[in-house]
Amino acid sequence: MDEITFEKDHILEGAVTPLLVWYRGAKRDLPWRHTRDPYCILVSEIMLQQTRVEAVKAYYLRFLQQFPTAEALAAAEEGEVLKAWEGLGYYTRARNLHRAAKQIAAQGFPRTPREIRALPGVGDYTAGAIASIAFDLPCPAVDGNVLRILTRLLADGSNIDDAATKKLFAERLRRVYPQASGEFCQALMELGALVCLPNGAPLCTGCPWEGICLAHATGREAQFPVRAEKRARKIEQLNVFVLEHEGKFALEQRPAQGLLAGLWQFPLRAGGDPAALGEVIAQRRAKHIFTHIEWHMTGYLIRAAACSDDFVWAEAAQIKAHYALPAAFKAFMPWLDRQHISK
Ligand code: ADE
Repeated sequence: MDEITFEKDHILEGAVTPLLVWYRGAKRDLPWRHTRDPYCILVSEIMLQQTRVEAVKAYYLRFLQQFPTAEALAAAEEGEVLKAWEGLGYYTRARNLHRAAKQIAAQGFPRTPREIRALPGVGDYTAGAIASIAFDLPCPAVDGNVLRILTRLLADGSNIDDAATKKLFAERLRRVYPQASGEFCQALMELGALVCLPNGAPLCTGCPWEGICLAHATGREAQFPVRAEKRARKIEQLNVFVLEHEGKFALEQRPAQGLLAGLWQFPLRAGGDPAALGEVIAQRRAKHIFTHIEWHMTGYLIRAAACSDDFVWAEAAQIKAHYALPAAFKAFMPWLDRQHISK
């Protein structure tokens, strides 16, 4: 082991206890922190992939009320699962969770990190989180937030968008993992969420690592983490045609592959003349940002002369109860209410 590795390991080792002490006093009361049931932890961790804690809370509670066990989820129809996921985004997660539940219902919850990692939709981070939180196994869960706090602690200039960096920090963490694995895993997440904030804005006063953080000691908090340059998102200009005829609205299903695969939407087109589809009653613009694409939408509420066979037609209540419409269309949902369409 070279000298720098030794020094960084030493700092990390010294960081464990203060972090745990801080976490026990400062942690948020989150619904998934009241259980060690691996199925519940799986649900929470899948939901927390790419989604903020505040947004997940209500979905998590509702989802577990509807599907309290892996068996209950395994027995559900895919449409029901997608409906429960409606608005949370990244719907592949819901499909994978459904597949994982079928596997768990048939074979029991996997007990080793390797088997947990093999569940559909579970990558290294989620596998580490589940193994640590549900089973107290010393398996690091390293995401961008954990890399941010650790590169600051160690003033480490490795590019965090490089897969090798994630591996390096996972190894470093593995060497210092304490017995209380689940708490340690969540303490790392919590420090990133509450104190060591992104965009060069950490709240160093009150941080349990204030006295040992190398970035803080040299006033360079804002220089870490080092990242690769981001590629600009592609912008798509789209028309959303909310077609209404006698209380029913036109829906179409998205293709089985790609963005929002298989979900329902109002007819969505790159062009098209709204007036050709009927009487335009209202118009509004909305934007939705995905990871790699931005939709810049112009929505038209249109009274159609008939229910064209090109679409599925459903009443507002049916749409709300049975069709999973992505959050991208949220701005147009009020148009489903009667007062917008009555003459
Ligand atoms: N982000 C991912 N997993 C989390 C967890 N268990 N608690 C809080 N934030 C998280």
